[in-house]
Amino acid sequence: MKIGVTGATGQLGRLVVQHLLKHCQPEDVVAVVRDPAKAADLAGQGVTVRVASYDDRAALEVALAGVDKLLLISSNEVGRRIPQHQNVINAARAVGVKHVVYTSAPKATTSSLVLAPEHKATEEYLAASGLTYTVLRNNWYSENYTQTIRNAAASGEIVSAAGNGRVASATRADYAEAAAVVLTSEGHENKVYELGGDQAWDFYELAAMIAEVTGRPCTYKAVEAAELVERMRQAGADEGTAAFVAALDTNIAEGALAEVTGDLSRLLGRPTTPMQETVKAVLQ
Ligand SMILES: NC(=O)c1ccc[n+]([C@@H]2O[C@H](COP(=O)([O-])OP(=O)(O)OC[C@H]3O[C@@H](n4cnc5c(N)ncnc54)[C@H](OP(=O)(O)O)[C@@H]3O)[C@@H](O)[C@H]2O)c1
Repeated sequence: MKIGVTGATGQLGRLVVQHLLKHCQPEDVVAVVRDPAKAADLAGQGVTVRVASYDDRAALEVALAGVDKLLLISSNEVGRRIPQHQNVINAARAVGVKHVVYTSAPKATTSSLVLAPEHKATEEYLAASGLTYTVLRNNWYSENYTQTIRNAAASGEIVSAAGNGRVASATRADYAEAAAVVLTSEGHENKVYELGGDQAWDFYELAAMIAEVTGRPCTYKAVEAAELVERMRQAGADEGTAAFVAALDTNIAEGALAEVTGDLSRLLGRPTTPMQETVKAVLQ
């Protein structure tokens, strides 16, 4: 059985490929990449590397020929993702891929998360495609806070507009391992998994985790979204980026990332990696 992974030179895709190599012959792992130069190390491991952009339907059909199961890693080109993902799904169907696994966002079809609409549209398109599918609704990566943790360790303060909101994050490695489990085992047909950490944390707790690792005080300053935008603008961020970050924080304050479901640890057969481990890994 040949297993394809799009976005295979991205951070999540690379981790998925390494897990697949524990279960599959390297030539049966098909890394679909837009820049073959970035995939030279994968080719060196014997992985089959094929080149296609999410924007190029014809190239996607060539790249996906012979693939049985495909992990469609959502594009990072926010705003262009619906046609890009549709290109991949249409190409997969055209060349006889049997099962498409898609990385989505928490409660994508009902969430107020600003990132949800493109995921909702993709999930619905995939469900209507006639292909067998699995949806991996990944909560936040713990690594999204790498820079926040570093800055807070230096300044002694986290500033966010997330209020008391909780984040059920897990590491990219956790999500990648779960994706590899779904790709290499049966029983995931037409299922939707809400994947996230076993313990959600809030920003007061994140500040406490940082203080514990550094041995220095660290506090959380909760601000309104407008104040966060102003602070980010003063620190040099452009208006769009600042507004986007504030909107995501507002989603967190509303509870959009708070739910703990246990789906991820069930797929992994082990607990997820706690946020404390990510804080330690970043600071030590
Ligand atoms: N759950 C979360 O917290 C979270 C956080 C950030 C992102 N995400 C989503 O999860 C996805 C995977 O995360 P990640 O950390 O692996 O992101 P990443 O490192 O940015 O990887 C994104 C991958 O998509 C590929 N890509 C982008 N545009 C493409 C195009 N037009 N054609 C073909 N490939 C294209 C990139 O190719 P190159 O390698 O050539 O750049 C890269 O391999 C992201 O793309 C995003 O949709 C989730």
